[in-house]
Amino acid sequence: MCGIVAYIGSKNATDILIEGLTRLEYRGYDSAGIAVIINNKIEVFRSVGKLLNLKNIISEKKPVSNIGIGHTRWATHGKPSYENAHPHSSFGISLVHNGIIENYLDIKRNLADKGYKFESETDTEVIAHLIHSNYKDDIFEAVKVSVKQIKGSFALAVISVNEPDKIILARHDSPLVIGISDGENFAASDIPALISYTNKFIFLEENDIAVLTKDSVTCFDFEGKKTDREIKIVDINPVMAEKAGYRHFMQKEIYEQPRAIIDTIRGKYSLEEGMVLLPELQNISIENFKRFNIVACGTSWHAGLIGKFYIEKYAKIPVEVDIASEYRYRDNIIDKNTLFIAISQSGETADTIAALRIAKKKGASILSICNVIGSTITRESDATFYTHAGPEIGVASTKAFTTQVVALFMLAIYFGQRKGDLSCEKVKEMLSELLKLPELIEHVLKLDEKIENIARNFKDFSSFLYLGRNVNYPVALEGALKLKEISYIHAEGYPAGEMKHGPIALIDKNMPVFVIATDSKVYDKVLANIQEVKARDGIVIATVTEGNNEVEKFTEFCIKLPEISEELSVFLNSIVVQLLAYHIAAELGLDVDQPRNLAKSVTVE
Ligand code: M6R
Repeated sequence: MCGIVAYIGSKNATDILIEGLTRLEYRGYDSAGIAVIINNKIEVFRSVGKLLNLKNIISEKKPVSNIGIGHTRWATHGKPSYENAHPHSSFGISLVHNGIIENYLDIKRNLADKGYKFESETDTEVIAHLIHSNYKDDIFEAVKVSVKQIKGSFALAVISVNEPDKIILARHDSPLVIGISDGENFAASDIPALISYTNKFIFLEENDIAVLTKDSVTCFDFEGKKTDREIKIVDINPVMAEKAGYRHFMQKEIYEQPRAIIDTIRGKYSLEEGMVLLPELQNISIENFKRFNIVACGTSWHAGLIGKFYIEKYAKIPVEVDIASEYRYRDNIIDKNTLFIAISQSGETADTIAALRIAKKKGASILSICNVIGSTITRESDATFYTHAGPEIGVASTKAFTTQVVALFMLAIYFGQRKGDLSCEKVKEMLSELLKLPELIEHVLKLDEKIENIARNFKDFSSFLYLGRNVNYPVALEGALKLKEISYIHAEGYPAGEMKHGPIALIDKNMPVFVIATDSKVYDKVLANIQEVKARDGIVIATVTEGNNEVEKFTEFCIKLPEISEELSVFLNSIVVQLLAYHIAAELGLDVDQPRNLAKSVTVE
């Protein structure tokens, strides 16, 4: 949700800001802008729409400077427009902001009384004027005073024409990372913006202010007391954040899943001993827990729903799964006997962070499943299971989802084993099957052309139903979400057995129904659901297990998947729903990686 980048050094800041914004565009893409200091003047360049529009302006004007800030926006206050695009300025001070200022109207009124004029509808412009109103001759002091006057969430990067040798950063409830190099320093909302320049990072903590010069980074708390912030080495291959010949990031990320799964489980098991090894969980004393509470949003919530099946089956611990935005406003029964599991690709989702903090306050232990090293959720957890999917750039989550599900499968075995519910023999069997998964996924990826053909047949329908049962019910939800978010086609996921309680009324010849009918203990029931759809002229697209010749009697759109246990069939079915959504959106010529109205990490409520 909004991307920030900042640079100070001896290279041309403009080039670095534009490259950083290109890598951050997935966080927001309704307008973009940069501010640089040239000849004792702040020059601001902004444009509405995709970054390309800003790039065209920059390549025409060719600004050169050694210091600058940049922003790519996902609108909160004020529609996407030139006036609302960042950076916002006030008399020689410019800033970029990610977050939401809750008391901006009060501050705006006070500033208006003092004579400040506002050009935009944003809460950000209010901060620019506030900082100016607090400015005497020291931009650090002005930011320090101002951050105490604002309520809400913010990551800020501020420059002042009077002090062209420094950038001031501040964070509260919005991520900000500093990249360190020789004779130059950087800042960004997220590491991918900086991986071409450095592997040394400082993750700013809550209520940190930092002063960046080209040769130094100094961190303070909001009272102005110096704080020690550790420099962390994070090695991400920059190629992982490129499209590498694929048409879209989403397509590349779908294809990366076999590798991502291998990386996620690497070093976390011993097949000979039949053990899952998770030393990162040593702080979590399993014996204390009477129940688990999984909390997440969107796709991560779907992973959590699958996790419930795994944990209850293998570890025999009751699990409740909540949507974070609901959880935070509910009277939760949670205490020190609860293990709270936060699942988040980004580790920066505001609702999930808020839910985690509530659980922590009530004494729960916090375990997170996360893909981004050093993110807020991981820092606030007692233990983290990192998913190692690599940077996920496509807004629609794919490899993050399957690696979260793998993590949950491993956790279920781990807890089952520690509780004495799973024998080493059983674990060996489960691990052996899990290790075959990457190859089986490769097999499903070979069905891509077939799925693309199916997509061509269905791209013009206006509504879809997705049905699944048991552990595949969350995959039906995920399939519907994928289709909605990138193709803008209405879709609903339903537990197949619930169809007769309502959605069956929707079925007619204009309603394609995607049914997950791979082998399972409820296969016969799902087959009956397929017949019910056919009897009402609905069109069925189905996944089945190789060797099944029954379902194709009811549909020509039958996708045969390799044989696998019901528990792990979720992975193969997930690849199919991802590819189907991807091809429908691509066929429709839509912007698959940056669908309208969405942003990759939702860092505001
Ligand atoms: O970074 P998180 O996993 O916390 O993000 C949660 C959701 O915002 C995310 O999964 C969203 O639903 C995706 N667009 C789904 O593809």
